[in-house]
Amino acid sequence: MLKSIVQGIVFLFGGWLKKRNFYLTSSLEYLERKRTIDKNYLDYIRLSSLELISHEINFKKVKGNVAELGVYKGKFARYINQYFPDRTLYLFDTFLGFDERDKISDVNHGFSEVGQDFSNTSVKKVLSLMPYPEKCKVVQGFFPDSAGAIDDIFAFVSIDTDLYEPVLKGLQFFFPKMVKGGYIFVHDFNNDGYKGARKGVEDFCSENNVGYVPIPDLGGSVVIVK
Ligand SMILES: C[S@@+](CC[C@H](N)C(=O)[O-])C[C@H]1O[C@@H](n2cnc3c(N)ncnc32)[C@H](O)[C@@H]1O
Repeated sequence: MLKSIVQGIVFLFGGWLKKRNFYLTSSLEYLERKRTIDKNYLDYIRLSSLELISHEINFKKVKGNVAELGVYKGKFARYINQYFPDRTLYLFDTFLGFDERDKISDVNHGFSEVGQDFSNTSVKKVLSLMPYPEKCKVVQGFFPDSAGAIDDIFAFVSIDTDLYEPVLKGLQFFFPKMVKGGYIFVHDFNNDGYKGARKGVEDFCSENNVGYVPIPDLGGSVVIVK
């Protein structure tokens, strides 16, 4: 019944929705395990991919902690915290927006115009969103300088810093610390507003002989598997 209604909607409005990059599609019809996906999060594919990957990591008991580099208000980090309740979640950000050095580099290379301002956040607000704030370690400051004292291994890392320098340096820092079976998400690989994100991934991956899988989420992320 529901299937016929959806098919009817696609038949009538499919073209209109597609033009706006909205798709009504089935997802994982044959998976019997119960999945918890917050329907209010604006990017179903990003969140659904995180849920699947967290299941792989947790089910296989892959060791390591988790991190996000580029947290802003913590809207994605809160789900990393939710799906990895027993692991330390490192939250790396200036919490003051982009650093001048990264901005200048991106603009000079013609990667982006760095129009967005991510300064309207605070550590307190971010922690208040987290389901398990006691598992969070805030690493405030300019990355990679801020990461000097971090000596840990990782099972999952999200890099969402938009610009070339922190994407490249994020991969250089985290990839060697990933355990076998660990995953890195890099946001904005297929975002033409932030071409430095793609270039950072391409430079790191070609230099280190690492593969990646682009996924069709809102920001055009890639997934790297160790
Ligand atoms: C697009 S926002 C992150 C959005 C967040 N991941 C989400 O999904 O809601 C990018 C963030 O990266 C941070 N950032 C960019 N370059 C950085 C650097 N070199 N060091 C620390 N933080 C950085 C900015 O401060 C900003 O908060």
